[in-house]
Amino acid sequence: MTLKQEFRPAVIVVGASRGIGKAIAEVAARDGATVVLVARSPEDLQAVAAAIQKAGGEAFTLALDLTARDAAARLEDFLSEKRLICDVLVNSAGYGLRGGAATLPLDEQLGLIDLNIRVVTELTPRFLPGMVARGRGGVINLGSVASFTPGPFMALYYASKGFVRSFSEALHQEVRRAGVTVTCVAPGPVSTEFLEKSGANRAALFKVLPKLDAKYVAERAWRGFKARRRLVIPGTSAKLAILVSGLLPSAALLPLIGRLQLRGNDPCPCGSGKTFRDCCRAGRSQRHAPSETRARSLPL
Ligand SMILES: NC(=O)c1ccc[n+]([C@@H]2O[C@H](COP(=O)([O-])OP(=O)(O)OC[C@H]3O[C@@H](n4cnc5c(N)ncnc54)[C@H](OP(=O)(O)O)[C@@H]3O)[C@@H](O)[C@H]2O)c1
Repeated sequence: MTLKQEFRPAVIVVGASRGIGKAIAEVAARDGATVVLVARSPEDLQAVAAAIQKAGGEAFTLALDLTARDAAARLEDFLSEKRLICDVLVNSAGYGLRGGAATLPLDEQLGLIDLNIRVVTELTPRFLPGMVARGRGGVINLGSVASFTPGPFMALYYASKGFVRSFSEALHQEVRRAGVTVTCVAPGPVSTEFLEKSGANRAALFKVLPKLDAKYVAERAWRGFKARRRLVIPGTSAKLAILVSGLLPSAALLPLIGRLQLRGNDPCPCGSGKTFRDCCRAGRSQRHAPSETRARSLPL
């Protein structure tokens, strides 16, 4: 028996300690897959693994901050130590930030790019060559309905998901004939900690859109991936939101999203230190602009 034959295929879920990642890991394990659960919180990972094992599945855990520069290498080392192959990679770790790009802390904005874009970009091509060589498996990347439009006051989050969808759809085309599937899952709001942590649940936009259950999204994602779909949009409301955003011209869509995403008592995106209600929304943006800025601004 060669060394290679001793390795077993596994589904690697990054962002598996809670939310959509946890739900996808549970669905995959129920389907008979050996799962590797990756996130930062060891206790939460252990709890997910224990539940999977109790239900008769097999789960390994790896507590890892994916933004650490050696994270991908440590994941690879862990897999070879456990004699596992990344058959399916699920990129579900991610976070959002609501607010004006001019006022949100820069380190948090760069951190979002690191997790939502760089980590996906590093992990996907790292495991893809093996999948192509074996002619099986693939990648599930968590995009969002936000990937279909720019999103004022969650600008980086929307842009990061735009990247994920574009990257995933292109890769789908590149590797599909090799027997490998890359699926982008693009849900609307899902009831997870993401909504609270990102501040999205305080925006009117996320209040009007119905929230999906993480289990429902996970089942759609897994089923769509197995059916070799390029794009999975769980739920009718998400499909409608994408349709409407595609029909509206940007001149109408962007102010609408901006209005639905920033609340009156949020800090004003111009950085004046006042609330949005008392500042730019009231049309006073010129009144507080420093005179030096006004003097330098040229009519274009
Ligand atoms: N919820 C929604 O409304 C929604 C809608 C559309 C798309 N999405 C996307 O779906 C994905 C999953 O979202 P969710 O709702 O499940 O979010 P969530 O409940 O906040 O879960 C995020 C997961 O990512 C892990 N994570 C965060 N930072 C990490 C890091 N530096 N290293 C390793 N793991 C890290 C978290 O675990 P630890 O904290 O333990 O590390 C957790 O397991 C995200 O990409 C999100 O953008 C969410």
